[in-house]
Amino acid sequence: MPSPEATLLQSWQHNAQSWIDAIRSGAIDSRLQVTDQAILLAIMSRQPERVLDLGCGEGWLLRALADRAISSVGVDGDATLVDAARAAGSAPVHVASYQDLLDAKVDIGRDFDLICANFSLLHQDIIPLLATLHALLAPGGALVIQTLHPWAVAGGDYQDGWREEAFAGFKGQWQPMPWYFRTLASWLNALDMAGFQLASLQEPQHPQSALPQSLLLVAEPRR
Ligand SMILES: C[S@@+](CC[C@H](N)C(=O)[O-])C[C@H]1O[C@@H](n2cnc3c(N)ncnc32)[C@H](O)[C@@H]1O
Repeated sequence: MPSPEATLLQSWQHNAQSWIDAIRSGAIDSRLQVTDQAILLAIMSRQPERVLDLGCGEGWLLRALADRAISSVGVDGDATLVDAARAAGSAPVHVASYQDLLDAKVDIGRDFDLICANFSLLHQDIIPLLATLHALLAPGGALVIQTLHPWAVAGGDYQDGWREEAFAGFKGQWQPMPWYFRTLASWLNALDMAGFQLASLQEPQHPQSALPQSLLLVAEPRR
């Protein structure tokens, strides 16, 4: 039986085209109304010269950064998404799984002023990956993570563990995706264990929603 991590990445192979269609048609309201702007503001406020977009998907954030004259590099484990990102933008985009990055199988560069992960840290054991990212940051650099807000998606079960996203309500053919739910304390512990200290925590919200649309963490290498 494949591990949830293997099924997770494999689900992106299956879902790549539906994901490209969903993002490029603006099908996800929370992104249009809140979370795209939230991560862009978090990135821009640090005035980075060079950004790594980890798990960049079809590359919308790379294109948004290019529009703002910020140089960026993308990396993603799915070849279809990487092809789409390359075709639609000018940033270099690497195909590599997170395991490939841990094993140093692919050279994606280093000395990034900022590394962002927008809804792309979905597996269980993120600490080794975060530690690898730590080593890719330039002095004064930062990590920006936007993720599902644990209090908004806990569904009455507030403990770390694998969940499944069925993409109900999305158009197209989707394969369910396993993803690892982590509590707020678990996110903060993972950052700490990987050598980061929290610089800021935001809970981007829509005025008409009672729940935050995401959790946005900015972390810096611990001095
Ligand atoms: C929800 S999508 C987000 C994509 C993009 N960051 C965005 O904002 O649209 C999650 C992305 O993480 C990538 N991903 C998930 N697990 C991965 C892994 N183990 N290695 C490489 N990429 C991975 C997927 O291929 C997918 O593109």
